[in-house]
Amino acid sequence: DEATSQKLTELAKRRGYFFQSSDVYGGVGGFYTFGPQGAALKGNLEDAWRGRFAVEEGNMEIDAPTIMPEPVFESSGHLDTFDDMLVECPECGESHRADHVVEDNTEYEDAESLPIPEVEEIVAEYELVCPSCGAGLAGQAIDDFNLMFATNIGPGDSQPGYLRPETAQGIFVEFPRLKEYARNTLPFGVTQIGRAYRNEISPRRSIIRTREFTQAELELFVDPEGDDPDLSPVEDVPVRLYPATEQQNEDGEILETTIGEAAEEGIIASPWIAYYLGVAREWYAAVGVDMDRFRFRQHLAGERSHYASDCWDAEGLIDGNWIELAGFSDRGDYDLSKHAEGSGERFTVFRQYDEPQTVERASVDPDMSYLGPEFGGDAGAVADALESLAERDREAFSGDVVEVDLEGKSHEIPVEKTGFAVEDETIAGEHVTPHVIEPSFGVDRLLYTVLHHAYAEDEVDGEDRTYLALEPEIAPTFVGVFPLQSDDDLEATADEIAAALRAEGLSVTYDDSGNIGRRYRRQDEVGTPFCVTVDYESLEDDTVTVRERDSTTQTRLAIDDLPEALSALRAG
Ligand code: GAP
Repeated sequence: DEATSQKLTELAKRRGYFFQSSDVYGGVGGFYTFGPQGAALKGNLEDAWRGRFAVEEGNMEIDAPTIMPEPVFESSGHLDTFDDMLVECPECGESHRADHVVEDNTEYEDAESLPIPEVEEIVAEYELVCPSCGAGLAGQAIDDFNLMFATNIGPGDSQPGYLRPETAQGIFVEFPRLKEYARNTLPFGVTQIGRAYRNEISPRRSIIRTREFTQAELELFVDPEGDDPDLSPVEDVPVRLYPATEQQNEDGEILETTIGEAAEEGIIASPWIAYYLGVAREWYAAVGVDMDRFRFRQHLAGERSHYASDCWDAEGLIDGNWIELAGFSDRGDYDLSKHAEGSGERFTVFRQYDEPQTVERASVDPDMSYLGPEFGGDAGAVADALESLAERDREAFSGDVVEVDLEGKSHEIPVEKTGFAVEDETIAGEHVTPHVIEPSFGVDRLLYTVLHHAYAEDEVDGEDRTYLALEPEIAPTFVGVFPLQSDDDLEATADEIAAALRAEGLSVTYDDSGNIGRRYRRQDEVGTPFCVTVDYESLEDDTVTVRERDSTTQTRLAIDDLPEALSALRAG
């Protein structure tokens, strides 16, 4: 399988899928350019994702900037916690991810979740060495390294900004406006397809871990006390699940089950996550991920991001390694609460009750000015402290005095002076902070997996051939049109056919160079599902040969019928 990756990387470069960018200046790790085929394939995958996760599900789509100001990431937690462990080699000066060095050389599989001192100890104990030059790493300090790319907005450095490390933040910060577009009704979903940036310490494995990549994310805002989604459309979807409990168990295994069963048995705790795992599984199969090399794995507690309370990854098998293709997280109210706190804006939705309700409301006198200088004159702070205490703990006001803490000092205030009162109030509803369920897809990794799973070799007419068995719906080039030989009449007819197919919206490549066998091989490698050849018979009876890529079978079709017949084949 390693060999497949190697061959695929060469094919990707040769046929215009992807290659190292800025190569003429030596290139730099973690940045790739998608060539003509790659850009078209990526566009098709994004369109397919948009069709399924935005349009079909009735979710909105937005397009936010990739650079965002610092306060966004102070609130989101990325400034403080979006770190990887970095170890620098004392000999060659190369930097490496310390957890990768540990995982690649010991039986520790989840070094990312270990604290730095423990990782330092493991490096020393196992005498781990630099992956680049082999020098010993024992005794090297391991540091937290923040993965965000920093920049300055405008001249000077008074306005720091960061390239977003996930598209999600562009959705969260716009929540107060987006909820208006959703007419203040939960649940609603917002999608975004766009670039994200992470200054990965050691980008690896081609386009699987890069420093600039594309995410397709859906943020679903749900009422934590609202109705569960209807699972019936996905309940029979077969899934292979690897829950945390199985991973921790020595004989743990991958469970073959269905979404319906897994939700019922509580293996997938959130019905929203269950629903989207079902949708995602069907969608991945439709775009060409091999379901024998696909599973959902639940994160272990130590592995989860700072915002997630539960997470399942979609994983594809490549080179014998499971690669994370997407994450399905329960982010709770983490993001919206943090942005509410940081911005001072309201990140809630008003939940209207079926019937107005009468509730008891505790209050205190907002004017505490009589309290005098012993409170540093800050009577307002006393009123706030008493107010929040009254909301939380009415019992505290049941004696003669009530205790409040201010700046580490405790004060006793006579209850009769607080103006404490409990009154009935009729309310129509309440403000709730929605919970976020997030299906987050990596487009580059998907593209790589689709190519890898489509890669095939066989023998045709005694000759070895390589082809990409891409799904017609997403194949970057759909049909090749060839005149059999260099001949004005054949070429004129082939030109007309190519124009007619392009007018139908199909992606066509016209090729008149080399013998016909070579032209077929070229399109096989590109993954073009069909080739149309114009021969001398065509000039007599207006028919052409249509060759199918995987089976190589050839059939004759009337030229007039081609646009409709091929369009139908693309739609599947
Ligand atoms: N908003 C949630 C989030 O960003 P993540 O698991 O860090 O979660 C989601 O990223 C997806 O983005 C991953 O499943 C992966 O497909 C893709 N991804 C993350 N880092 C990547 C990188 N350095 N290169 C390529 N794709 C990456």
